[in-house]
Amino acid sequence: MNPSKGTKPVTVSTFRQKKRRGERICMLTGYDHFAAQVLDECGIDAILVGDTLGMTVLGYETTLPVTMEEMLLHTKAVARGAKNALVVADMPLGSYQVTVEDGVRNALRFVKEGGAGAIKLEGGLEVAETVRAIVRAGIPVMAHIGFRPQEILAQGGFRVIGKNEPAAQQLLVEADAMVEAGAFALVLECIPSDLAKAVTARVSVPTIGIGAGIDCDGQVLVWHDMLGMFPRFKPTFVKRYAELHGLIREAVSRYIDEVRSGQFPDEAHSYHRAPADPKPSVED
Ligand code: KIV
Repeated sequence: MNPSKGTKPVTVSTFRQKKRRGERICMLTGYDHFAAQVLDECGIDAILVGDTLGMTVLGYETTLPVTMEEMLLHTKAVARGAKNALVVADMPLGSYQVTVEDGVRNALRFVKEGGAGAIKLEGGLEVAETVRAIVRAGIPVMAHIGFRPQEILAQGGFRVIGKNEPAAQQLLVEADAMVEAGAFALVLECIPSDLAKAVTARVSVPTIGIGAGIDCDGQVLVWHDMLGMFPRFKPTFVKRYAELHGLIREAVSRYIDEVRSGQFPDEAHSYHRAPADPKPSVED
């Protein structure tokens, strides 16, 4: 069964409605056409083409080297596969930090060339003007606060944000600034659960948590993490719903064994010539 069949495409107003009704929003990252089709079939609300694709798909150490062209390529593939889910494209480092104009131009590229329905960007007060300008251009913005992977160098590594009172207050200020600038949703990454609960109660837009506890309006995880396809490391907040790395290794190893031992391809996986026409007999 396809739960998404016959349902209306998800838009930013669906997000608003879900917050009002207290219905939880489900988002996962997806980076290609296959993932988009599966996620859509399952009835996911939104697919985030995250810049985590730099690590999960492209093999970079961090998300920092990811370019607009790489993001656009993957956004297009996802947009072609998603019929109902809202496709949210992640603005990579350098695509919106230098000038407001850069931000608007690149956000427009995600919609016009990539087929995205919204963009996400990391930041608080320093990007408020950019968020405002992108929204003014008619593009819905999801703002990502808390731990911001694009600032990993400045942060000195991966860490939980908002553990002490001044940091918690700063996060509330950033949440307010993003909502005031017009963001339609907030991603809250790696913050204490009680702080996420406070933000969720405070803001009018939905909060989507990743490492932010149960009280957010929705949740997001990385496709490769939740399917057990990113063995390099596993943050506390990641729950693996499958262990595909092991399953894929097993399948590939069997294939190698069967090719080397001459078991594959067998008769069932080979083509055969059509049987020759029976020869006319002398009586004919
Ligand atoms: O890039 C990404 O996948 C993200 C999620 C971790 C929220 O920003």
